[in-house]
Amino acid sequence: MNRIGVIGTGYVGLVSGTCFAEVGHKVVCCDIDESKITRLKQFNIPIFEPGLEELVKKNAAEGRLSFSSDIAGVIKDSAVIFIAVGTPMSASGEADLSYVKEAARMIGRNMNTHKIIVTKSTVPVGTGRLLESLIRDNLPDSSQTFDVVSNPEFLREGSAIHDCMNMERAVIGAGNAQAAEAIAELHAPFETTIFKTSLESAEMIKYAANTFLATKISFINAIANICGKVGADVTEVAAGMGLDSRIGNKFLQAGIGYGGSCFPKDTYALKHIAEEAGYSFKLLEAVIETNENQRLLIMDGLVQSLGSLRGKKIAVLGLSFKPNTDDVREAPSLSLIPRMLEMGADVCAYDPIAIREAGQYLPDEVDYAHELYECVTDCDACVILTEWSEIVNMDLERVHRLLRSPVMIDGRNCFELDVMRAHQFEYHSVGRQV
Ligand code: UGA
Repeated sequence: MNRIGVIGTGYVGLVSGTCFAEVGHKVVCCDIDESKITRLKQFNIPIFEPGLEELVKKNAAEGRLSFSSDIAGVIKDSAVIFIAVGTPMSASGEADLSYVKEAARMIGRNMNTHKIIVTKSTVPVGTGRLLESLIRDNLPDSSQTFDVVSNPEFLREGSAIHDCMNMERAVIGAGNAQAAEAIAELHAPFETTIFKTSLESAEMIKYAANTFLATKISFINAIANICGKVGADVTEVAAGMGLDSRIGNKFLQAGIGYGGSCFPKDTYALKHIAEEAGYSFKLLEAVIETNENQRLLIMDGLVQSLGSLRGKKIAVLGLSFKPNTDDVREAPSLSLIPRMLEMGADVCAYDPIAIREAGQYLPDEVDYAHELYECVTDCDACVILTEWSEIVNMDLERVHRLLRSPVMIDGRNCFELDVMRAHQFEYHSVGRQV
């Protein structure tokens, strides 16, 4: 009998399934997308995540990790089933639970022994209870017992393997102490802090953690916007604040706001959960609004430097929502590049990894360069949207020489001000005066 079955081979399912195999468990990952499973069996990994391919290959070769499109079979053969399917944002802002619910119905229909069903997907408070009743309603034999546990995931794209293998805590929410203990035991090889809660609290911890981090980012961005006007430098301010251990120095990097598949979706979802609960979460609304406005700083910088954008050629460096991933969901590039085009600019874009992904969503008029220096050649301005190390470490002298005019709009504060002054750039960054 396989120990763990994982339904859903997206970021969360694939990374956590692989890491559970790496620490010694037997894991089968399954998905309704048969072509994805066929590709995974050939070690064709659908996402760019450093270290993932090697770890998948290693664990498959050692017999602990396998892939299957037979979801019913995987359910029947597993003692523990992780639900790691997507919960995309619906038009109203709430989490769309249709994939999670379908997974629960399938689990119910294929329940043959006592199983523990663990939700890893980010789901609104109360979903665990809803899944319990959906599973129960679909049981072939109503006397069959099972438990539902919430075990939210806290990994970051781009460092997902590291975050999973070195998890700071495992939050385990359950109504049944034995089920909680069984999931705690699965985590024993990770040597992490086990934090047991109720189902509802575990579900809330995930949203509260993500929205708190989003709040930190919007807060420092708001401070940056004031710094820029009063002559302070937000990088110094953030460093000085971060020395207070009550505040901490993480997630205080000012820029053009948060993107990705989690913070934008989860902030909207919690706002919706609060509304449903009859609470108007004004603080969270301000966090979301601050983030939406923050991207527009790039356009302000461009217009300030170039005046009209009509006929101007702009180099955009960085298309993914953050470095070390090809994920462009809610990436600033997807909203800012179309705006530049609308204002009459020609855009040439470069990203070390995400060109293919971004190209699916960006207008056809965008040109793509295969190399950073080719991208900036003869451009009227260079705009940095993602702080890839290749971009942070670029040869500034060469870029200065290749640009038609030495204008750099840096949405990620990649460079020291005195360095940019020494290179005689017209340099605009976030929350720092030139
Ligand atoms: C985030 C959380 O950090 C994870 O803990 C969580 O598990 C995950 O969401 C999820 O819910 O699945 P992720 O979206 O992969 O992870 O990436 P982060 O590194 O958190 O960055 C999110 C966004 O915030 C990026 O756009 C990044 O550029 C921005 N950011 C981050 C800042 O603008 N400033 C900072 O100081 C930090």
